[in-house]
Amino acid sequence: MNILVINGPNLNLLGEREPKIYGSETLDELMVWLENCSKSLEHKFKFYQSNHEGEIIDILHDERHWAQGILINAGAYAHYSYAIRDALVSISIPSVEVHLSDIDARENFRKKSVLKSVCIGSVQGKGKNSYLE
Ligand code: DQA
Repeated sequence: MNILVINGPNLNLLGEREPKIYGSETLDELMVWLENCSKSLEHKFKFYQSNHEGEIIDILHDERHWAQGILINAGAYAHYSYAIRDALVSISIPSVEVHLSDIDARENFRKKSVLKSVCIGSVQGKGKNSYLE
């Protein structure tokens, strides 16, 4: 399966950003780990990170003919970006929303995800295992 992995804003600072919440590994380490763990499944991955809402939408559009599945950690955009939600609906590729932390156990504003209902699944609170699952 061709899997498009999109990491949103501030995830480029993983490793130095709030390590008690997000862990001490960098985004690169985490994505290499994910690809290695999935080797036996013979998936092909493309990894992107962007701090910009429109750029995330452009990536979804540009990769829509390649991707057969999407893992998206939209960071804070997950809580309010109707534009990313519309993009996921527009390309209609099975997508799973991922969060490293348990967004239901944190501040109130994180409890709502506008992406959840347009994804086939949502995994949160399992650190890097959220991506693997
Ligand atoms: C996050 C949770 C979001 O609330 C936050 O804005 C992030 C990271 C996570 O992976 O736990 O940037 O998506």
